[in-house]
Amino acid sequence: MINARIAGTGSYLPPTILSNTDLEKMVDTTDEWIFARTGIKQRHRVTDERTSDLATEAARNAIASAGIEAQAIDLIIVATTTPDKIFPSVATMVQRKLGISGCPAFDVQAVCSGFVYALTIAHQFIKSGQSRTALVIGADTFTRITDYTDRSNCILWGDGAGAVILQASDTPGVLSTHIHADGNYETYLHVPRNEDGPDTVVMEGNAVFKMAVNTLDQIVDETLAANQMQKSDIDWLVPHQANIRILQATAKKLDMPMDKVVVTVDQHGNTSAASIPLALDTAVRDGRIQRGHILLMEAFGGGFTWGSALVKY
Ligand code: ACO
Repeated sequence: MINARIAGTGSYLPPTILSNTDLEKMVDTTDEWIFARTGIKQRHRVTDERTSDLATEAARNAIASAGIEAQAIDLIIVATTTPDKIFPSVATMVQRKLGISGCPAFDVQAVCSGFVYALTIAHQFIKSGQSRTALVIGADTFTRITDYTDRSNCILWGDGAGAVILQASDTPGVLSTHIHADGNYETYLHVPRNEDGPDTVVMEGNAVFKMAVNTLDQIVDETLAANQMQKSDIDWLVPHQANIRILQATAKKLDMPMDKVVVTVDQHGNTSAASIPLALDTAVRDGRIQRGHILLMEAFGGGFTWGSALVKY
């Protein structure tokens, strides 16, 4: 059987920071309210950069960390909801910027669950023998589709990108992936077409919050059962970074102390598809995540979509 292991990780954040104090000058809010309700202190925000710029920088860092040449990549998948253009895909733009051509390259749109979806697809390509070295990226510039007059929503989003190189291997890496969707919840979290101005995110925050907590509880059970594992087998929770209170609820479900949860929401805000690979890269680079550790990645987002990946790093 062909396994797929994470050979390298990378990430990139645009240099401009939007702090809670900055937001206090834009909408009727306070640093205290934002931090207490979300756990966010600051987020990064693009100025001129586009999603493909962030994605390419993250990819370069992942390629360097894996110690491979870009030419070795034979599949590129970018999870994004905020592509530079309707088409072509961000993945083909990244391919060009990396100076390679020929391999399949496409985007996946599952909002905040996008990285788990992309990893799932890359895993299937490698397991089936169709690819050997996949570049899997989560990249989003949600501040481009944020309404900075909606205080209950604009405080959440940040921009960034994270990437992994997933390589065929004899030893286990990705142990299982689980992805789901339910289109009945379209209008809970969406970007409606707006005749009178730019299209921006509209969210029923409270309802999304409750659904996210309940659904993530179920995905934890599903993932552990599929792998016949106990909660205590998980070394690190690497969750989508939507809100610290959602992260705390999932940690509680896993009987896991918060120091086993990789938290970046305070510094990055919610970067949608980028948040899991950004968190992963952060904890790999600072030495918390070590080879052999068992990682549980999970996400919930617009659609609704949700999913998880259990990975031996
Ligand atoms: N500053 C001060 N007060 C505010 C702010 C603000 N920025 N925003 C809202 N309020 C007020 C409201 O007006 C309301 O006041 P009222 O009681 O006088 O009417 C009060 O605070 C409570 O508002 P709620 O909307 O109920 O606040 P809530 O506790 O639900 O927090 C939040 C809002 C942070 C958005 C939360 O609901 C949340 O995090 N939801 C989940 C988001 C998420 O997980 N999304 C999914 C993934 S993202 C993706 O897929 C793209």
